[in-house]
Parts: sequence; structure tokens; C-alpha cells
Amino acid sequence: MVDGLVEPPSRYTELNMNQSEINLLYPHKPVKGQIALVTGANSGIGEGVARHLSAAGATVAINYVVNPDSAQAIADDITANGGTAMITQADVSSEADVIRMYSEVIGKFGALDILINNAGLQRDSAIEAMTLAQWNTVIGINLTGQFLCAREAVKQFDKQVDRRVSTANGKIVCMSSVHQIIPWAGHLNYASSKGGIKLMMESLAQEVAPRKIRVNGIGPGAIKTPINKSAWDTPEAESKLLELIPYGRVGIVDDIGQAAVWLSSDASDYLVGTTLFVDGGMTLYPGFSTNG
Ligand code: BGC
Repeated sequence: MVDGLVEPPSRYTELNMNQSEINLLYPHKPVKGQIALVTGANSGIGEGVARHLSAAGATVAINYVVNPDSAQAIADDITANGGTAMITQADVSSEADVIRMYSEVIGKFGALDILINNAGLQRDSAIEAMTLAQWNTVIGINLTGQFLCAREAVKQFDKQVDRRVSTANGKIVCMSSVHQIIPWAGHLNYASSKGGIKLMMESLAQEVAPRKIRVNGIGPGAIKTPINKSAWDTPEAESKLLELIPYGRVGIVDDIGQAAVWLSSDASDYLVGTTLFVDGGMTLYPGFSTNG
């Protein structure tokens, strides 16, 4: 790779860029000096977002619930590439855990400017076999977890109105999904959690915008991560998945990382309560391109 240049466009066919490649994307450091907490950041989209925010100049707290080694490895890699990171354990569906996590992060870094409400999971099942535990786990982590983390972030933002590292007094990005608007048979709990995130995000955005806190969402489409591995890890599965994606490629976490940096930065200062779909056109009803 040429110094300062990122090779065009084949990078999007690869699985995830590494930290030194990501660092080249943000020469102007759009979130320089800001402190970000990314939930569920020890794998998948959360890891990518933490890496991109670091590359863009933020200090990052990497939340995980299990597997501290993977969280520590990401923090170490960020540090080795010139960034600053810590890891913080919490089950985001637990109020006590979330409160403890905030005191750890604020205790270490002294402030918070950006929350990426990302932690989420799937527990798929047809309705007749879906247990209450499967329902509750998904709603608890994907939806209640975002509420708990957003509540603590808003309290913290309100305490630091004189910080002035950004035009806004704090930013929250809620990781949703195309399934906040696309129904998904066999995934009632997941689609319900994402539909809930949509109106939680919009209602919160309306509530706290007068206090100069910006809340927005990202609706990823199919992004290559462990959560949907079976949908893209064989050529047959991938070509079936591509029928749903007009742009003709499955997403990578860097697609979401770049959107998250923009939504966290002052470049998006007039965006309030919007969901950015980053989905290669999945929300465009691709079935209608040859029918209807
Ligand atoms: C889900 C993935 C799925 C994608 C598109 C995401 O929210 O987590 O499993 O591939 O939506 O359907």
C-alpha cells in the first residue's frame, strides 16, 4: 500500500481491515480528544467500530460480557497502533453491571463523549419452539441494554456541559438493523428488539436534543460477522444472500465503522434521530426489481 493511500475498491472484498489500514482513513481525526464507549466490542461490528473510532482520534472503552482475552487483544492492538483503549466487563442487560461499567470508564478516562450502543445477539427459533428465555435474552440485551446504557450516558453528558470537545454535548449511536423495518420470520425476538430500538432511539433523540445531545441509529444489512456466518461462509449461501443485496456484495464491519465515525463526529452535527441504513440496498425491496 502506498503511504497515505488506501488501495481502491478491492478492500471491500476482504474480511475486515487491520488497525494500521484503518488508521489511514482518518488523517483529520474527526473525533480527536473524545472518549467513546462501545458495547459488545470484543467481536464483530462492535470491534470494527471501536477500531475506527480509535483511528479517528477517540479514546475507546471496549465493553465485553464474556471472553476478556479477545477484548484485551483488541485493546492491545489499538494501543500498539498509537491509540488509547481500556476493556470493561458488563452484561448490558444488568442495571448493576451497566452502572459499574460507567464508573470504571469515567473513573479511568474522566468523561464520556460518545456511546455506541452496539451489544446484541440472536437466539433464532420458530415461534412454536421459541422459549421465554430466548425471547427475554434477546429483548434484555438488544433493547433493555440500549436503554440502560443510554440512560447512564445522558446523565454523564449532562454533567459535562463545559467540556467543549464537540459541537454537541454528547452523541449516542444505536446499532439497529434493517430488521427494524423488514419483518423476519423465524426471528420474532430479534426483529421485535430492533423495531423497539427504532422508536426508543427516535423518542430519546427528541427528548434530549434540546440539551444538545444527538441520538441516531445505524441499520446494518448483512455484514460478515460471527452472528450470521452461516449466511455467507459458503459460496451457495453467499449467492443466495446476494439476491437480497442490490449492490452485489456482503458488507464488512468497516462499512459500519465508517458510518459510526461520521455519526459520532461534528460532520453529522445536524443529524438527529435518523437511522442510517448501511445495507447495500437491502431495504429497497430487491424482489421488486424483476417483479410487481
Ligand atoms: C442480522 C444478520 C442478518 C442481517 C440481514 C442483521 O441484523 O443480525 O444475521 O444477516 O440483519 O438480514
